[in-house]
Amino acid sequence: MLTRRSLARLAGAAVLAMSVAAPARAEPVVIKFSHVVAPDTPKGKGAAKFKELAEKYTEGAVKVEVYPNSQLYKDKEELEALQLGAVQMLAPSLAKFGPLGVQQFELFDLPYLMNGYDDLRKITDGPVGKDLLARLEPKGIKGLAYWDNGFKVMSANSPLHVPDDFLGLKMRIQSSKILEAEMQALGAVPQVLAFSEVYQALQTGVVDGTENPPSNMYTQKMHEVQKHATLSNHGYLGYAVIVNKAFWEGLDPAVRANLEKAMAEATDYANSIAKKENDDALAAMKAAGTTTFYELSDEERAEWVAALRPVHKEMAGRIGADLIKQAYDTLGITE
Ligand code: LMR
Repeated sequence: MLTRRSLARLAGAAVLAMSVAAPARAEPVVIKFSHVVAPDTPKGKGAAKFKELAEKYTEGAVKVEVYPNSQLYKDKEELEALQLGAVQMLAPSLAKFGPLGVQQFELFDLPYLMNGYDDLRKITDGPVGKDLLARLEPKGIKGLAYWDNGFKVMSANSPLHVPDDFLGLKMRIQSSKILEAEMQALGAVPQVLAFSEVYQALQTGVVDGTENPPSNMYTQKMHEVQKHATLSNHGYLGYAVIVNKAFWEGLDPAVRANLEKAMAEATDYANSIAKKENDDALAAMKAAGTTTFYELSDEERAEWVAALRPVHKEMAGRIGADLIKQAYDTLGITE
């Protein structure tokens, strides 16, 4: 017969057995998502949304650590870090894929190619966008999505109304050969600098000016060190969200499916706020009053277009004449 003591011992043993048998809770998979802009930008907010949804849909099986503002890596370093597996996710600007050997992304840098977000969507959602992402795979990278930012303004400490106003100005650019050609076509001297170095370079006069969508200009406080800006909308700046392919394909398929769902929703979110974020940033800079924002007249715009459109032909060898033609066809550009 079981005594009270032996019953208690049995109960204790059962608890012990249960705790031994219960599977130890697995450590979450960590996704380090590094980027170079402020949290309060379309990309920063998109990354935060992905973190929220990824952790929710995977019920904590995945933890996303977002590192904004070049905290972990600057532009070029972050691409190396992704390939080495030191970080798992990035959203570099489309102008920064040249060093990976996929310079075709510089298509997006062609001046006066796209006339607004509707045109952009035709490229990113169509075959051109899909083909470009596929080109990343042989590099060990998987492209998951395009995230919008916006159309660029040109800024400097002197007015920029016509191409001649750029003569001899040192202009910071991202590491894109198309942007180099663009600045040269305007008579400026392009200088590649990492994003994290731009504010100081403008402040100290290392460069005279730059180009950016308003959200980047505002959140880096560039308007405090640029007296003039022109709402030229001459080019686009946006992102491809990319992951280390081996990491992504090594994930449990159910976890990956949840992450894909989180990415699809974060993409819709990021792309739904980008225009407003840029409009708000422009309004905030106008209110700050440190920069005079200039709208081009039709005649001036025609001069900009005449100076910059030849860059398309000049750089066809780098991007591929076929790809440019495919983009023209997609956008209904006849020449
Ligand atoms: C830049 O370097 O100007 C941009 O690519 C920064 C960014 O990620 O928006």
